[in-house]
Amino acid sequence: MTKRNKTKIHQHKTIKTAMKKPQVSEEPAVWYTDTAVPHSLMPLDSIICGDALHILPNIPDCTIDLIVTSPPYADKRTNSYGGIHPNKYVRWFLPIAKELQRVLKPSGSFILNIKEGVSDGERQTYVLELVLELKKQGWFWTEEYLWHKKNSYPGKWPNRFRDGWEHCFHFNKEKNFAMYQEAVRVPMGDWAKTRLKKLSETDKRRDESKVGSGFGKNISNWVGRELAYPDNVLHLATESSNKNHSAAFPTSLPEWFIRLFTKPGDIILDPFLGSGSTAVAAKRTGRRYIGIEILNEFCQLAGQRVKEVSSNNGELFK
Ligand SMILES: C[S@@+](CC[C@H](N)C(=O)[O-])C[C@H]1O[C@@H](n2cnc3c(N)ncnc32)[C@H](O)[C@@H]1O
Repeated sequence: MTKRNKTKIHQHKTIKTAMKKPQVSEEPAVWYTDTAVPHSLMPLDSIICGDALHILPNIPDCTIDLIVTSPPYADKRTNSYGGIHPNKYVRWFLPIAKELQRVLKPSGSFILNIKEGVSDGERQTYVLELVLELKKQGWFWTEEYLWHKKNSYPGKWPNRFRDGWEHCFHFNKEKNFAMYQEAVRVPMGDWAKTRLKKLSETDKRRDESKVGSGFGKNISNWVGRELAYPDNVLHLATESSNKNHSAAFPTSLPEWFIRLFTKPGDIILDPFLGSGSTAVAAKRTGRRYIGIEILNEFCQLAGQRVKEVSSNNGELFK
């Protein structure tokens, strides 16, 4: 292994030395970097400890290919990293979203993983309000993916069942954006072997929906295919317990979006990095990353986790 691609975690007292623009916040930031070759304008392959709102202004305009993040949920996890009151959530998040919009490339995507809780027997509405406000801010709401938590804990509530899923909102700056659908194709499955064995006459032409949904299909197009495009539900198990972070998402979650919306060498940003899952996924897939996390203990945890990942393409940095 050469000195150039040898993975290192440096700990700096401040990020100021690596950034051209002055830091908005006066608070000192700790910067863990993973590369021996720092980028001249941006702290790539680094974890910056600080408030996202204060750190983001240091990132140049239109430089990020994908933002994938899970912000603190309203009034949750108050024992570990504080919570924001549901009534104040949208007001808190919008200035951060404005910065995310500025740093994202026009071809980039923003994935927001979030889930509203329950207050006094009623679902909170701040997530719905946030989506509407983000649209007013100029975001293009392309899609909502759903993360089905395969291993949600059993429980009993008087008026509902346990939460088994979370939102993954997909926002863009523009209608046309980078998307590599081939990268997330899934096996056709055994059903195809029997279903496609003997085709009817209808199967051989485009068959329009009988109920007028506008959805038509030509089954014969699927013959001989090993892979199909997936649907918009991700079936993944949670992994918090083995990451020392109470709200970690599984690394496979950011990894799926990274494969779908970026190519090797692209830059991924997570402004609420937590235990570092996004950085780990970026590094595993040969992308570059910037992670921001307010709590020093999680910065250290994330730094430790990325240190343990060896890049899959040998030389990450161009
Ligand atoms: C839901 S967790 C993210 C978990 C992460 N996806 C993972 O897999 O570990 C949200 C994180 O945001 C951090 N956080 C809260 N407010 C922040 C802020 N203003 N700026 C940066 N990080 C913040 C919290 O400390 C917490 O670790």
